[in-house]
Amino acid sequence: MDTLEVALGARSYPIYIGPGLLSDAGLLARAVTAQQALIVTNSTVAPLYLERLQAGLRCPEQHVHVLPDGEQYKTLETFAEIIDTLIEARFHRDACLVALGGGVVGDIGGFAAACYQRGIRYVQIPTTLLAQVDSGVGGKTAVNHPQAKNMIGAFYQPDCVIADTDTLSTLPRREFAAGMAEVIKYGLILDAEFFAWLEAHLEDVLSLDTDALRVIIGKSCELKAAIVAEDEHERGRRALLNLGHTFGHALESIGNYERWLHGEAVSIGMVLAARTSAALGSLDSADVERISTLLTRAGLPTEATDVDAERVLEIMQLDKKTTAKGLSLVLLEGIGRGVIVAAPGAEVLRAALEIGRDG
Ligand code: NAD
Ligand code: GLY
Repeated sequence: MDTLEVALGARSYPIYIGPGLLSDAGLLARAVTAQQALIVTNSTVAPLYLERLQAGLRCPEQHVHVLPDGEQYKTLETFAEIIDTLIEARFHRDACLVALGGGVVGDIGGFAAACYQRGIRYVQIPTTLLAQVDSGVGGKTAVNHPQAKNMIGAFYQPDCVIADTDTLSTLPRREFAAGMAEVIKYGLILDAEFFAWLEAHLEDVLSLDTDALRVIIGKSCELKAAIVAEDEHERGRRALLNLGHTFGHALESIGNYERWLHGEAVSIGMVLAARTSAALGSLDSADVERISTLLTRAGLPTEATDVDAERVLEIMQLDKKTTAKGLSLVLLEGIGRGVIVAAPGAEVLRAALEIGRDG
């Protein structure tokens, strides 16, 4: 098992990474010491991993709340149902919520933990690659508003994160690839050596080699933990983690959140950000090619040539990262060097969106 730390003073917490952690009763007993635990999971993950988790938990009083599977259930209604369960089972303030699942379960579960009695402890047990490298770490919790994603939420850090790499063996290939978009993102914004490592070892990663998984999850969590420690509430540098997300969110919205998974939209968005960087002279066109090639090899889309560029630009203006100062964007000054800049003019963005359209 590898152990990393998110260093936040008195609220610091460990991230445990490795195979077989869900069967490690000693680790689970240390992670969840409360008398009362509510496991929040969903209808897909419960049949796969709930029993294993329950066998290891030592809390005398355990309850389970199973959510339906899907981003469409990441709502205030679902959140309220978890709160109902906590109230009906008379959960105390020193209880613990355990979120077992992907980013949807982790985000709603974390938000319920943040709100119940103004905050109870919670543990993240992420079971998708995306959740193990990104959403499970860093304390962003939320539900969606009908008009926009993640609009209602809180920064609320867990007690610990337990990433059992064995759970990735049941994850559909498309979901695994979506998580790879976030892994590649860390290389692009922060670590050129890691990006080159991914280029050299992608086959090992895609064949779920245990050591390769430990490297990608460990490195991603290490890079994310450092950023979160520096800028927990995203007042500055944490926004680097949004590379490709402003374009990506617009695409997700245009595709009604059905056409592309989040990671797939981010993949296309990262290529658009790379092209924009190249148009502004801060990235070589050879690097744009390198980025697009690695994403394609990971099983990700890199183009959305049938999408109306004007519609993308319009939705980007509504992005929640738009502040009073206007829209900012994460661009690249080389592989491994992300920068947060004021978004360039619409003509530059339009050109990035239109490259490749006429063959
Ligand atoms: P998800 O939670 O919907 O999981 C994807 C699919 O995989 C679901 O059908 C799920 O039931 C299934 N699944 C989960 N674990 C499995 C396993 N081990 N085996 C088989 N199937 C499994 O999606 P996700 O990609 O994990 O997360 C996306 C969500 O995360 C979005 O709501 C996004 O907004 C959020 N997110 C949050 C943060 C953050 O910092 N909090 C960061 C990125 C994304
Ligand atoms: N997923 C971006 C962040 O946690 O800030």
